[in-house]
Amino acid sequence: MDIKQQILRMLESNRGRSVNGSLMAEKLSVTRSAIWKNIKQLQDEGYQINAVRNLGYCLEDSNDILTSESIAPYLRGKARHFNLDVRKTVTSTNTLAKKMAVAGASEGTVIIATEQTDGRGRMGRRFYSPDSTGLYLSLILRPKLDLNDSLLITTSAAVAVAKAIERHTKNDIQIKWVNDLFMNGKKVCGILTEASLNIENGGLEYAVVGIGINVTTKDFPDDIQDIAGSIFSEKPEDKPIMSILAAEILNNLSVSMDNLTDHSYLLEYQERSFLLGKDILVLKGNDTFPARAIDIDDRARLLVEYPDGSKEALSSGEVSVKETK
Ligand code: BTN
Repeated sequence: MDIKQQILRMLESNRGRSVNGSLMAEKLSVTRSAIWKNIKQLQDEGYQINAVRNLGYCLEDSNDILTSESIAPYLRGKARHFNLDVRKTVTSTNTLAKKMAVAGASEGTVIIATEQTDGRGRMGRRFYSPDSTGLYLSLILRPKLDLNDSLLITTSAAVAVAKAIERHTKNDIQIKWVNDLFMNGKKVCGILTEASLNIENGGLEYAVVGIGINVTTKDFPDDIQDIAGSIFSEKPEDKPIMSILAAEILNNLSVSMDNLTDHSYLLEYQERSFLLGKDILVLKGNDTFPARAIDIDDRARLLVEYPDGSKEALSSGEVSVKETK
């Protein structure tokens, strides 16, 4: 970490409080004027830092620039060892993370962006990712997991993210199998897990779990405006600092990814599921089949029952809630 990053880290750890310039200079073994020069640079980059005579420097509570320094102070447990790569605009954090995983990036590497120009969703769809109103992140995993258990990654991430969001809103977060988070009937978050198979042992070489959250996004493209929503579209002023939300998601993910195979989170996943007990349509190719969603099994597959009484465990594909006339 260079001096500027270290200063930022100190200010972030004391967000809303003044940090004495001489004290910072002493801790970092530099002159007070070096501190001042770096503070000036940070201010020029847009950081809201107040210089208060005799008190020092204070990072304003409202400062909301997403950087690895702003996220790091809020990381807990194993997430403190995550390797954060925070960027402004990328094509897709998942695309980047996959490239990095192929090049050997270790488990715990995280790519975060404030904007994606080619955000991707499941089934080849795009994920609308405008600047600064959403949180877009991808975590590289190297799980010791059988391919048949790979659904556990997405479903466990869904519970981890739902819990992090609920710390900041009074609304409940529900999950639509397998990867969509809903609030007040609108999709506010999507999860895309992509993995590479190790043919020799049938396990996963790496997995990238990508999470996109609409935080304050308001104007969605026509094709999704009826289904998409944001966690704080009504009151953007109530939204949490993005760095804090990002850190809470990473904290939860680090715990849940460590406990994938104990399946205990599946109970919470089921409780949050709004498909269970409902009549749904199962989409296979161009055909749809009416069915009832009856359970989620210990591999996170959706158990459905067709009108003829036959049952099927779905591990991929698309389902939608059947409209009642
Ligand atoms: C879906 O709704 O089908 C899944 C959307 C997943 C979006 C996230 S945003 C971060 C990561 N990068 C991507 O390109 N996609 C995922």
